[in-house]
Amino acid sequence: MDILFLSPGFPSEIPEFVRGLSVVGARVWGVGVEPVGALPDTARKHLHAYLQVPSLLDEMETLVRVRRWLGGRQLDRVEALTEYQVVLAARLREALGIPGMSVAQAEVFRDKEKMKLALDAAGVRTPRHARASTVAQVREAAERIGFPLIIKPIDGAGSAHTFRCNDAQELDAAIDGTRHVPQVSVEEFIDGEEFTFDTLTAGGVIQYHNIAWYRPRPLVARTQEWISPQVIALRDVDQPHLAGGVAMGRRVIEVLGFQDGFTHMEWYKKPDGEVVFGEIGGRPPGARQVDQMNYACDFDSFVGWAEVICQGTLSQRWERKYNVATVFKRAHGQGKIVAIAGLQGLRQEFGQHIVWENLLRVGDQRRNWLQTLLSDGFLVVRHPDLATTVGMADRIGRDLRLYAR
Ligand SMILES: Nc1ncnc2c1ncn2[C@@H]1O[C@H](COP(=O)(O)OP(=O)(O)OP(=O)(O)O)[C@@H](O)[C@H]1O
Ligand SMILES: [Mg+2]
Repeated sequence: MDILFLSPGFPSEIPEFVRGLSVVGARVWGVGVEPVGALPDTARKHLHAYLQVPSLLDEMETLVRVRRWLGGRQLDRVEALTEYQVVLAARLREALGIPGMSVAQAEVFRDKEKMKLALDAAGVRTPRHARASTVAQVREAAERIGFPLIIKPIDGAGSAHTFRCNDAQELDAAIDGTRHVPQVSVEEFIDGEEFTFDTLTAGGVIQYHNIAWYRPRPLVARTQEWISPQVIALRDVDQPHLAGGVAMGRRVIEVLGFQDGFTHMEWYKKPDGEVVFGEIGGRPPGARQVDQMNYACDFDSFVGWAEVICQGTLSQRWERKYNVATVFKRAHGQGKIVAIAGLQGLRQEFGQHIVWENLLRVGDQRRNWLQTLLSDGFLVVRHPDLATTVGMADRIGRDLRLYAR
């Protein structure tokens, strides 16, 4: 199999998918913006060929360059695993005559209004919603939907430019904060818990699914810097508390006709038990959540994805053994990391349950917590028991401190 793969070097987990493809015997033709020498070793080692382009945002320019580069060679698939490249991948497929998701299908995954309209038609519960491209339309939608509400970019990611409005004053502030956003979704605010439903799908059939619990909800985590956000992949995905979300997720795959690869859904569970759909990405979750699946089930889901893409089935065996919590840390202060406190004590106490430490080091420049979910790094812990896992995650939130100056 010959696979055209967009952005093989970024973000940090993507090279693992390139490795997966190469492990199952595919040849990977990478297209990205970095010079080949700047690619992470794992990506470079597993690529068959690489084309550097000036920007993946310019779809037409990328298409011209890719076509010239391939020189008439027919490839089997085009894969893109990050939100901003899902439509570009579809455009390349159409232009190069390669099977897979079309542009029209891909847009349903990128445009939060098209997505909800498609699901509404099938009876999936979405928040009341409207598309708005002018201030007047936002106000009209707000009037109709009522407070509290959410305003967010129609094709946003990472909770950027997303506002909760409780009253007219907050609505004014949100209108101000989204002035540069060409189109927004105005939505009924859904109170409740927030979970993912992530699937590995082959020929439209779900082969594996993962549910992660966000503590707190992503929008809250993105609003308060002092919070150490947690994402917890749950061991018991069959518990009755989650059944409504699982059924909804399965239905969404069916309705949208998703065929092969990873999807990443988010859904809400209200205090009264009602489940409401959040969104779906035609790609895996980010922020190393695919690694969580590996830690939860002791398998290699990067290779699993490649099996699905190249062989049409997931042949690896896996078993859900652990709950896995990732705790993202944000340093106190600005500038460079000068000290890390509390790590030794946590290591001694939690021992083997800490499976991954990926913190910035002393001397490293702090990252912008608003621009990366990874913040200044993270710890991953796992345990068969959920309460124990949550307990460890909370302790990491409280007792591990990074200082910057
Ligand atoms: N209708 C809603 N009701 C309540 N909270 C919402 C609603 N819409 C969005 N949010 C909050 O804002 C966050 C970001 O919204 P959403 O997931 O739609 O956008 P995103 O930026 O694509 O997210 P991602 O980080 O998954 O890329 C959600 O995780 C949720 O916490
Ligand atoms: Mg989201």
